[in-house]
Amino acid sequence: MPPPDMSLTEQVAIITGGGGGIGRAIALAFASVGADIVIADIVPERCEETAARVRALGRRALSAPTDVADTDKIRATVERAAKEFGRLDILVNNAGGTNQRPFLDQSEKSWRKLIDLNLVSMFAATHAAVPEIIKGKRGGAIINVASIEGSRAAPGYAAYAACKAGMLNFTRTMALELAEHRIRVNAIAPDYTITPGTRGNIGGPVDESKWFKPNAAQDDATARRIPAGRAGIDSECGDAAVFLASNMSAYVNGATLPVDGGTWASSGWVRNQTGKWVLVEETLKA
Ligand SMILES: NC(=O)c1ccc[n+]([C@@H]2O[C@H](COP(=O)([O-])OP(=O)(O)OC[C@H]3O[C@@H](n4cnc5c(N)ncnc54)[C@H](O)[C@@H]3O)[C@@H](O)[C@H]2O)c1
Repeated sequence: MPPPDMSLTEQVAIITGGGGGIGRAIALAFASVGADIVIADIVPERCEETAARVRALGRRALSAPTDVADTDKIRATVERAAKEFGRLDILVNNAGGTNQRPFLDQSEKSWRKLIDLNLVSMFAATHAAVPEIIKGKRGGAIINVASIEGSRAAPGYAAYAACKAGMLNFTRTMALELAEHRIRVNAIAPDYTITPGTRGNIGGPVDESKWFKPNAAQDDATARRIPAGRAGIDSECGDAAVFLASNMSAYVNGATLPVDGGTWASSGWVRNQTGKWVLVEETLKA
C-alpha cells in the first residue's frame, strides 16, 4: 500500500483573505506541500507579505489584492490567476468577518454588507473558479472556511452565523453538483482561533506587536470553555485544509470538519473552576 499522500505538487490554489490569519496559514501550509498560491486579500501589504513567505518556501505566488465583497474583482482575480499560472486546482473561500451587534441594532446596510462579505463572495468565487478547475480535467478541491457559529445560535452575530450556515449547506450541494468533475467540496468550522482579526489587527499589515492580549481571566474562560483547554492556532486550520485539499481525503466530500478543539462536541458543557465538566447553569453553583 502506498504511504498517505498529502502533496499538492504543481497545483494552483486561490485563497481569499490569504494575507493574514487562517487564510495565510492555509497558504503557507499548501505551499509547504508543493502548491503555488494566489493571495486574494483586500490589504495589498498583506498579499505581498504572504507572497514573499510562499516564495521563501520555494513556490510561486501571485499577490492579487481583491475585495471579495466586489464580485467583479473576484472574477478579475480568477482570470488573472488562470492567465498567470495556466491552471487552477483549489479554491479556498476564507475571507470573512463580522461585527458584534444585536440584529435589531444592525442597519440593513450593515447586514447586507455582511452577506456580501461572508456569503455572496463564496458564490462569486465558486462560480468564477470552478470552470477554470474543470478545464484542467484533473479534478480539484474547494474548501470553505465556515465557523462553529454556522451550526449553533450566535447572539450578536445573527447575519454572520446565517451566512456561515448557508456556507455549510452550499458546501453539501456543491459536493453533489461538482462530483462528476471530481471536484470535492468540504468545509472547516473553526472555533476561537488566534488571528489578526481576533486580536484587533484589522486592516494594514499584520503586526503582532499591536495585538490585543487577553487577560488571565479571559484566558481562563477560554481554557474552561474549549475542551482542548486553549484557543486554536491558525496553522491547525492550515493542516486541516491540506488534508481536505489532498489525496489524504480522496473519499471525503460534502463534509464539515470542526477545527474547534472539541467545542462542537461539548455543546454546553464547560469546565468549572475546579476543572470538573458541568453544564453551564451548574457552573454558578461551583
Ligand atoms: N479566528 C477565528 O476565531 C475564527 C473562528 C471561526 C471562523 N473564522 C473564519 O475564518 C475566516 C478567517 O478568519 P481570521 O480570523 O483568519 O480573519 P482575519 O481578520 O484575521 O483575517 C482575514 C483576512 O481576510 C482579509 N479580508 C478581510 N476582508 C476582506 C475582503 N473584503 N476581501 C478580501 N480579503 C479580505 C483581511 O485583510 C485578512 O488578511 C473568516 O471567514 C472567519 O469568519 C475565524
